[in-house]
Amino acid sequence: MKAIIGIDIGTSGVKVLAVDEACRVIGSNVTEYPLYTPQPGWTEQLPSDWWEAVCKGLSQLVPTLTDYEPAGIGLSGQMHGMVALDAAGEVIRPAILWNDQRTGAQCKEIIAMAGGLEKLASYTNNNMLTGFTGGKLLWMKENEPDHYRRTVKIINPKDYIAYRLTGELVTDVSDASGTGFYDVRNNRFSRELITLCGLNPDLFAEPHASSDVIGRVTEEASALTCLPVGTAVCAGGGDAVLSTIAMGAGGEDTAAVMLGTSGVVSAHTAGFVENKDGAVQFSRACADGLYHVMGVTLAAAGSYKWYGETFGDGDFRAMDDEAERSPAGAGGLLYLPYLSGERCPVNDPEAKGCFVGITAGSCRADFNRAVLEGVALSLRQVYERVSGGRQAKRLILAGGGSKSPLWRQIFADVFGIRTVTLDGAGEGSGFGAAIVAGVGCGLFESVAAVSETLRVKTETEPIDANRAVYDEAYRKYCGLYERLKGL
Ligand code: XUL
Repeated sequence: MKAIIGIDIGTSGVKVLAVDEACRVIGSNVTEYPLYTPQPGWTEQLPSDWWEAVCKGLSQLVPTLTDYEPAGIGLSGQMHGMVALDAAGEVIRPAILWNDQRTGAQCKEIIAMAGGLEKLASYTNNNMLTGFTGGKLLWMKENEPDHYRRTVKIINPKDYIAYRLTGELVTDVSDASGTGFYDVRNNRFSRELITLCGLNPDLFAEPHASSDVIGRVTEEASALTCLPVGTAVCAGGGDAVLSTIAMGAGGEDTAAVMLGTSGVVSAHTAGFVENKDGAVQFSRACADGLYHVMGVTLAAAGSYKWYGETFGDGDFRAMDDEAERSPAGAGGLLYLPYLSGERCPVNDPEAKGCFVGITAGSCRADFNRAVLEGVALSLRQVYERVSGGRQAKRLILAGGGSKSPLWRQIFADVFGIRTVTLDGAGEGSGFGAAIVAGVGCGLFESVAAVSETLRVKTETEPIDANRAVYDEAYRKYCGLYERLKGL
């Protein structure tokens, strides 16, 4: 029997896992590594730490797969991190990570050099966010000119692992999109934009489809990982893009909401969705022929946590029970979840949270419910940008918030879409990488077909009467930010 191995280079550690021919997880482990913050707001890691952790994790996993032949490797990784390599293929400096905030000035410069945000988006269909790789390269040129001069290639974290496994220096289309210098519409780096920014376009690695076999495990890598020499390695993708596949939203007719501290709505679309104000992140998908769109509400389950701990004892089940006593619409109470500013579609770090519509009749149950509803209304706004106006047939919920039956019902009603939770969604993006590699190695028919096989755990249908209440609440909700702005 054959197995596919997924490797995810996360921010706190690497997860390796193996799936069988039915895409069931048959083994996994996690190896941690340090995160360095040499200055406030800076985050760095050593690519050698990632590689050592991969070798350790695989050396433990592979020998347990006694009845299986590893047929391929899929790679996932934290996006946007910059690994700079010299002519000998050696790492020049620690990798600068996705959550590093040092590049604010460089992002502004890039937007100005492009001719403004709309012009930038005409090249890439994205904003240049501080997390993106593009600003990091300009930062290195301006602040570490010697390092910039020595650099012959920059790649993202999972590409470094592909390089150590195979000797091939390439990237994939989803991580390429996450550099902020990728012309997503035409599926190539925008040499024009990179040159306009005074940077060398040849520094970027050749982008591959995520399911492409980009090389094979070398003898040296085999000795360190226990993988058989010659095992196929696929290009893989960025974790945020692969996690949509891992959650089971592999096809165009499904949208996914990761309901964690922040809430991420993501979906695949066959059509190009214009992103002139850069409010969503738009990339090539890890499933061939599709685009991937995602947008974030910063305080999602984080809102409920803040509310529960500030006004109660943080017992979420008891809060849900009380919220059940309030009707759909929470007696006219609306909550805006902008506790830490907002990203999408409201793109404003200064935005503030609020409750609107309090009356003498408002009770605690209404407040509890209003928080759950406000987060769902906010994510519906994100979804409308992400979906480009198409209505998905199925909404997948995952993350801590998806454990609440009441919140699942509210999502089904607010979105007007059948809402499900699935098995496997908790495995993370390494699972998505294994699915994509399984397609690339001929084990699985397609990403969409595997998504259909993931077992449904819960299913929630929208209730018509509630939908009408929420459509009205949504109309009011959408007008609130503009009216309250600046307060
Ligand atoms: C995506 C992003 C994060 C990192 C985390 O744009 O910045 O999801 O990829 O690993």
